[in-house]
Parts: sequence; structure tokens; C-alpha cells
Amino acid sequence: MSDIKLKITDREGFIHEIDAPTDMNMNLMEVVRSYELAPEGTIGICGGMAMCASCQCYVRSNHQLPEKSDDEEAMLAEAFHVESNSRLGCQIHMTEDLDGLEVELAPES
Ligand code: FES
Repeated sequence: MSDIKLKITDREGFIHEIDAPTDMNMNLMEVVRSYELAPEGTIGICGGMAMCASCQCYVRSNHQLPEKSDDEEAMLAEAFHVESNSRLGCQIHMTEDLDGLEVELAPES
């Protein structure tokens, strides 16, 4: 299997059910960008370095995600609109165990 299903709620509240490849070394932020689910320039500003929080999302399903890195923890500690289920999309890599993942994009800050 090389594609997984994701359910992504955009910042307008629209739900998108999309397929994401697991064999292209993509992260969630890049998937959101490739489907143009957030306007250009409002997500992925730092290029996926865990330095901007523009890719913040809320995890709505019960998937076991990899632990946050120190960089991700530090960025989320400074970001706005952070909730206990906040993650940085650029730090979530597409793997088969994320099939069915549900996330909501955090508001632009
Ligand atoms: S793209 Fe900047 S923190 Fe994820």
C-alpha cells in the first residue's frame, strides 16, 4: 500500500477526504499544500523546519503519533491557538500507520 486516507478540516471548516502517498517522503504540511487546502503563503512558511508554526494542526483522531521533537515542543510553546492536541504538520511524516488520520488546520496567526 502506498496511499493512506486523511480527513483534513481546513480553516474555513470544510472537510476534505484525500489520499496521501507514503512513498514520497512527504509530511502533512506538504500534503496540505499539494492539495491547496490553505492559501499559498499561509502554511509552510519556514519550509518545514519547525520554526514558524504556520502548519499547526489539531489531531482529532486517536492515532499514535511519534513523540514531538524538542524543536517542535519549543515552537508550540511560543505559538498561538495551541491546544493539547496541537502538532506541527511539517513534523508528521506520512506513514502507513497514519491511515485514517483526522486533523484540523489551526487558524492562521
Ligand atoms: S512549516 Fe514551519 S513549523 Fe511547520
